[in-house]
Amino acid sequence: KASPRVKQAFPILIRKIHEFLIEADVTTEEWMEACNLMVEAGAISSEKRNEVVLVTDVLGIESLVNTLDQTRVQRKAANGVANSSAKENPTDSAILGPFYRSGVPVQPNGTCIIRQDEPGAPYTHLFGTIYGADGKPLPNALVDIWHDAPDGFYDAQSPEKPEYHCRGRFKTDAEGRYSTVCLRPTAYPIPFDHSAGKLLQMMDRHPYRPAHIHFWIEADGHKTLVTQIFDSDSDYLTDDAVFAVRDKLIVYFQPISKDYTPPKECEGKMKFELQQDF
Ligand code: DHB
Ligand code: FE
Repeated sequence: KASPRVKQAFPILIRKIHEFLIEADVTTEEWMEACNLMVEAGAISSEKRNEVVLVTDVLGIESLVNTLDQTRVQRKAANGVANSSAKENPTDSAILGPFYRSGVPVQPNGTCIIRQDEPGAPYTHLFGTIYGADGKPLPNALVDIWHDAPDGFYDAQSPEKPEYHCRGRFKTDAEGRYSTVCLRPTAYPIPFDHSAGKLLQMMDRHPYRPAHIHFWIEADGHKTLVTQIFDSDSDYLTDDAVFAVRDKLIVYFQPISKDYTPPKECEGKMKFELQQDF
């Protein structure tokens, strides 16, 4: 028995696909080429690399679905499903991407996630506060952070590097604060040696993403916030290969002097505001 959701969504899917086929006047060769691309994407996919997701990413699908997820929650809040204290403008979400890892150990606030020397790479003091739907700082929230190394690779792409290089988890303190030392991230290409790369090439598009840091922020009673921050000095902010940039997530990396000491109260700076869970 078809579920109500299937009954609702599939007629739309079929109608829109047919519209596309007619409007673009698609040939049998093109259709077979598309099928083969999907077969190849499935065949080379593994737990470490989901090529099918990469293909959907360069078409902007993951990013749009992510935005729909967030606006759906906001619509519910606006419709009064939430209690009246729910925040109307929570931090924007952004795609998870292929390099999230579960099971990363929590380390103390203030400790470094650079696990091998990176000579010449700009070290970054990254700190801030997590706020709940009521606008108050959230203690004991999980803050999971990951970014690429200066060579453009994430830890799982470089088995020769120390485990969890440029990746770490933290718990917010009693005042909702987290802090770590990481690197200023590097603009880098998404893996483009298979189907996703083929698609990009066909469209004369580059595979680069602007420099970004990923966040996964989880707290009781709140919707988990998956997001990224983008370096305002980076290239590719306006033509991200996977369409994930949101204006409000672009941040300025402030240069510091040699004798910089981190403020005792690592408050403010990178704030994230969570949504209520439904
Ligand atoms: C993708 C996203 C990322 O954040 C990344 O680092 C690489 C690839 C993606 O969506 O394909
Ligand atoms: Fe990334």
